[in-house]
Parts: sequence; structure tokens; C-alpha cells
Amino acid sequence: MSATIVVAGATGNLGGRIARALVARGASVRAIVRRGAAPDKLERLQKLGVSIASVDFGSPSQVTSACSGASCVLSALQGLRDVIVDTQAALLEGAVKAEVPRFIPSDYSIDFTQIPPGQNRNLDLRRDFHRLLDGRPVSATTIFCGAFAELLTGQAPLILFKWRRVLYWGDADQRMDFTTVGDTAVFTASAALDPSTPRFLRIAGDQLSARELAALAGEVTGEKFRMFRAGGLGMLGAIIALARTVAPAKRDVFPAWQGMQYMRNMFDGRAKLAPLDNDRYPGISWTTARDVLSARQASAAH
Ligand SMILES: NC(=O)c1ccc[n+]([C@@H]2O[C@H](COP(=O)([O-])OP(=O)(O)OC[C@H]3O[C@@H](n4cnc5c(N)ncnc54)[C@H](OP(=O)(O)O)[C@@H]3O)[C@@H](O)[C@H]2O)c1
Repeated sequence: MSATIVVAGATGNLGGRIARALVARGASVRAIVRRGAAPDKLERLQKLGVSIASVDFGSPSQVTSACSGASCVLSALQGLRDVIVDTQAALLEGAVKAEVPRFIPSDYSIDFTQIPPGQNRNLDLRRDFHRLLDGRPVSATTIFCGAFAELLTGQAPLILFKWRRVLYWGDADQRMDFTTVGDTAVFTASAALDPSTPRFLRIAGDQLSARELAALAGEVTGEKFRMFRAGGLGMLGAIIALARTVAPAKRDVFPAWQGMQYMRNMFDGRAKLAPLDNDRYPGISWTTARDVLSARQASAAH
């Protein structure tokens, strides 16, 4: 009989890809979704062969029943305290009551085990949830993947293609970790089906410094990319504090200052992933930063 994996957040970007990767690996996948989830997203999951358990996360009996029979409950939920702490706590209690042996929380981030509390609001929420998780009778595994590599050609204020600059704070030679959403999903699916995972798994499709990113962007585009040092980490901290005061954005998962908090953590070096578990599962071919930048270049040419 195939293993049953319960996935929370399967209607989202990463969770949907994890569900797909689990189905491809022969798992029986049950998406636990909130009442009122978009019907088209549920239909897409059902077409993949995923079964749907629609629950009120405020009802312990409904969550427990949705978790029953699973070998792992996996979360790819996204949100603020009400989701990352409260909804995940409801999911955790359901998993424990249903005697599910394993739980994967919605982390998929830079390594925050060495980052002091108070430096990154979104990661502090995950740390708060870990305190609940680590006190319950379930074997927990966090996947750390650095930044999603797609952010290099999207929202991350690092490679400024228009100005042919790479912006950095502090040390131009500090390496940072990047993994695509797809590679993170495939690895996470393998980890969900692996009964002997440790508390933390660390993966990176690529590891580059700002200086290496500038050289790479130059090679891929054929144009020269210069370095632009915006300031030191102390100055970045002061800008974050000011931005939080001016625009607290308490309900926004990614206000501008939140992005700056991730930048500070990445340039600070303590979020660096090591050693890597990339080789733990065979058959994963890791997408590099060059692949991501080349795909952007190819689509710009069309
Ligand atoms: N490392 C990185 O650079 C990076 C970047 C982005 C994300 N991530 C991480 O990846 C994980 C998933 O993020 P994502 O971008 O895939 O998220 P997403 O696409 O926004 O999906 C969020 C999921 O959470 C569900 N959800 C939100 N609030 C809920 C609630 N109150 N009750 C029940 N379900 C709720 C959504 O369900 P509905 O469809 O019902 O709304 C959806 O399935 C998060 O841990 C996030 O921090 C990492």
C-alpha cells in the first residue's frame, strides 16, 4: 500500500508542486484545505489524483480525521502568526491525535537556527512554532533551502538588470544559497516519504556571492554588471528600523522591510547552509543560478 501524505497549503505555489512531486513518487496525497478554498485550485489537485479534505481548522475533530492514516503531515502554508503559529498548531494537534509519526513545518527558508530572535519577523514566527512542535510526540523535519532562486530574476533586490548593477550590503564575497521552488518541492516530497529524516535538512541549488552574481549576470547577458555597495549591515539595520516605524504593514507577509530583513540575514553569513544534504536522494538534478538567469535571457529574446 502506498504511503499517505497529508499536505496543507497544496492550493499554493510550493504546496501544489510538492503534491505533484508526491503523486509522481507513488504517494497517496490528501490535501487538507480550508473551507472556501478556490474550486479551480481544488479541481486542479483532483486531476492530479490528490484527494481533498475540506476542514474548519478551528475544529480539532475535523483536522484529526483529515490527518488519520497518514505517515507524514506536511505544511506549505503561508501567512503571519494566525497561520504559521495558530493554524499550524491546529494541524500539529490533529496530526498528534491521529498518531501521525512525522511532521514537516512550513519553513523552506534560510537557516534561522543561528540568527538571533528579533532580526526577521517571518522567521521568528517559524521559530515560535518550532517551540510547540519540538514539545509534541512527533518526529519533525525542517527543510532549509535558502532563497527561492526565481527571486534572482524577480523580486530580490540583488541583480538590477535595468541598471546592470548587483546591489549588496556589507561583504561582496559572502556566499548565499539559492534553490528553485521546483527543486525544493521535489526534495521535500522525497523527505516526506523518507521515514528516517533528521530534524533539519539543508539544500541549495547554487551558492553565490554578490560578486559571483555580477560575473554570472555579465556572462549570461553579454553586458558588464558592476557592483553597487548600498552600505554596511549596520546601515541596513537602521533603514529596516526606520521603514518599520514609517510603514509597519502588520498584515502584509512581505512588506519592503521584511525583504530587507532577509537580505540582512543572507549578507550576515549566519544563515548560510552547511553541510548540504543535496545528495540524500538520487535523481534530483539541481537548477543553478546560471540556469535561472539563462531562462530569463531566453524568454527576453522572444
Ligand atoms: N525561501 C524563499 O525564498 C521562499 C519564498 C516564498 C515562499 N517561501 C516559503 O514557502 C512556503 C509556501 O509559500 P508559497 O509561496 O507557496 O505560499 P502561497 O502560494 O501563498 O500559498 C499559501 C497556502 O497557504 C494556504 N493558507 C493561507 N492562509 C491559510 C489559512 N488561514 N488557513 C488555511 N490555509 C491557508 C493557502 O490556501 P488558500 O488557497 O485557501 O488561500 C495556500 O494553500 C512558506 O513557508 C513560505 O515562507 C519561501
